[in-house]
Amino acid sequence: FAPQPTSSGPPPVATPSEVHRFSIQPLNRFRGASASIKRPREVAHFSYDNNHEYQEDESGISYYIPPPLGADMKEGFESFRHYEDKEDPHLDSLLQALASRERQEGREKKAQGDFVTWRGMMTKVRTNSSQIMTAPFDNFAEFSMFATLHDGTIYIEEDFPSRAADRAAESSRPPQRNQHPDQQSREMMTYWGYKFETLSLIPTPPATTPREEIAKHQRSVVSNHAQHCSIVGTSFGPHSLILGGEVDGLLAPKPSDPETPIQWVELKTSEELPPPHQQQHRDIMKFERKLLKFWAQSFLLGVPKIIVGFRSKSGILRSLQTFNTHEIPGMVRRGTGVWDGNVCINFATDFLGWLKETIKDEGVYSVVLRKKSGIVEVKKVKEGTGRILSEEFLNWRKQTD
Ligand code: A3P
Ligand code: MG
Ligand code: MG
Repeated sequence: FAPQPTSSGPPPVATPSEVHRFSIQPLNRFRGASASIKRPREVAHFSYDNNHEYQEDESGISYYIPPPLGADMKEGFESFRHYEDKEDPHLDSLLQALASRERQEGREKKAQGDFVTWRGMMTKVRTNSSQIMTAPFDNFAEFSMFATLHDGTIYIEEDFPSRAADRAAESSRPPQRNQHPDQQSREMMTYWGYKFETLSLIPTPPATTPREEIAKHQRSVVSNHAQHCSIVGTSFGPHSLILGGEVDGLLAPKPSDPETPIQWVELKTSEELPPPHQQQHRDIMKFERKLLKFWAQSFLLGVPKIIVGFRSKSGILRSLQTFNTHEIPGMVRRGTGVWDGNVCINFATDFLGWLKETIKDEGVYSVVLRKKSGIVEVKKVKEGTGRILSEEFLNWRKQTD
């Protein structure tokens, strides 16, 4: 494994650096009561507009409305405006929003964390790789990240070049032979997720939106360019984190009091389960495995509700179910027990503590979990902070020191 430097800057370290290892197994050491978690509180936010350009505001916030059951989510697939990062986004928008908050509120109120990263580094939905929180229950877990220590905070970003290479390899793979007629292309499955959002989200509160406006919006071209991102402060045991991630929409207008939880909602689609009398243990297990990712994703940003749109194999929206995020681990414990939320939290807490002990000097470190190895390896690959921290952010911090 030879990490590729992603940008110009200081040369790679000349002498081979020490490799530090953290083993995921045995999991038993993470069982029992979970480390204390601080309820996530929003510290900053930003939006991407319809061209995926950064906006320092709430323009990307959407509101939930119940989508029409029976809708065919294949509709409009040919005009899908699918945004995918072509260039490495690093942590740029997240850092920009943090710097802008400091500008507005003053440096004394700076949001501080032992770690700053995208929520996606802690957990990711629907990639081959599951990330830090979900790794204990995924034998195929793999990830690759870069981390750097700056001013007492560890910043972690995704190893974008390696993910882009995986994606390119995947899309160049020929379609499977003997494909079942019900089997849909990956792009179509991705489309359903966003079509479901378009049917369930409008840009203004439903109470003040005329019905024709709602209907017009539900028929509009499906695009994932616009987004709203919430940045929260939270903690796992003694380790504080600042996490940024996309939030789908609101169930009620945002409260003005920062102590009141925000009624965000996460939308998900999933294939409908067979009717109860035909359900097999493996159907339930498959769905409960999915719930691990749904739970971790929402729990990290303090999203209290998840609405799942169940669809037929060919993409007809059949039914809706609302889950309370905090009830999901208990449901699964009483159900198939395929995963344990306490183990995820305790594993993440221990792992973050170990990272703090390991990344004590400046430099860029690679943090890699190779598939099926069960061991996370950390080593220094470069001096400086690489491109993890934007120049703009470093200048801002220098000015205010
Ligand atoms: P579903 O989760 O309903 O499949 P999110 O749920 O995180 O808000 O993401 C919205 C949609 O983006 C997903 O809807 C899915 O369609 C698509 N999506 C997200 N991550 C993806 C990935 N890694 N690969 C393919 N599609 C993805
Ligand atoms: Mg989303
Ligand atoms: Mg969603």
